[in-house]
Amino acid sequence: MSEWYIQAFGEFYPILYPHRDDSSADREIKQLIKVLNLTGDEQILDICCGTGRHLSALVARSFNAWGTDLSMALLKKASNHPATAGRIINAEMRSLPFKSCFDVVFNLFTSFGYFLEDSQNMAALKEMVALLRPGGLLVLDHINRYNLQRNLIKENQQQRGEWEVLQKRRIEKNRVIKEITLISGDGSATCLTENVRLFYPDEIKRLFQTSGLKDVRFFGSFKGTPLKKNTERMITVGTKEKE
Ligand SMILES: C[S@@+](CC[C@H](N)C(=O)[O-])C[C@H]1O[C@@H](n2cnc3c(N)ncnc32)[C@H](O)[C@@H]1O
Repeated sequence: MSEWYIQAFGEFYPILYPHRDDSSADREIKQLIKVLNLTGDEQILDICCGTGRHLSALVARSFNAWGTDLSMALLKKASNHPATAGRIINAEMRSLPFKSCFDVVFNLFTSFGYFLEDSQNMAALKEMVALLRPGGLLVLDHINRYNLQRNLIKENQQQRGEWEVLQKRRIEKNRVIKEITLISGDGSATCLTENVRLFYPDEIKRLFQTSGLKDVRFFGSFKGTPLKKNTERMITVGTKEKE
């Protein structure tokens, strides 16, 4: 049995998350450029880029940007896009084939906390930091744990084209676990699981600092609004210390 994240991020991902599309990514990149004061000269890496939707928004704005992901099914979609073809690399997030040359590293839409052992999540974070040049920025966009704890939808059922999608969610200790069943028009069922580590702001701040990041700050949205208990996202930004 392979790891949950190998099964979950395949051909069904776009059916499960249709709202995570090119136009939302374009809007988010526009907002992040403003919040982070990016000039257009930065070299950017999007770790866990999926279909390359943020990457293509960056390349469209003439950034020298690259993306990496483990899922060949999602990277195939990225490689079909003229803007991102040739700018994507199939790689595991704990072991990336780059040097410390990036001005900005993105890890967007809950692409962190996948490993069951905290030491492995830390290894992923350290790898992201290792690829930044001194003074570079890490931007990690994760679920806001406070908001999820208050507003978790325990169960729902939706029709997505020919697919009926049933989702059951629970929080167990530090993790949110989602059991997904997709039933096709002919009645065959596919089951997937998502299992993501949740973090409080203090905890992620400590992890950032331990990994060599300073000036750690939080936002509650891509627009740069403050992190509050009821914001859906927890966007953490840290600056790599100069050696
Ligand atoms: C929630 S998706 C987000 C994708 C993209 N950032 C977006 O906003 O559309 C998480 C991504 O992480 C990738 N991923 C999961 N485990 C990984 C691993 N161990 N190494 C590298 N990428 C991984 C998945 O293939 C998937 O594309």
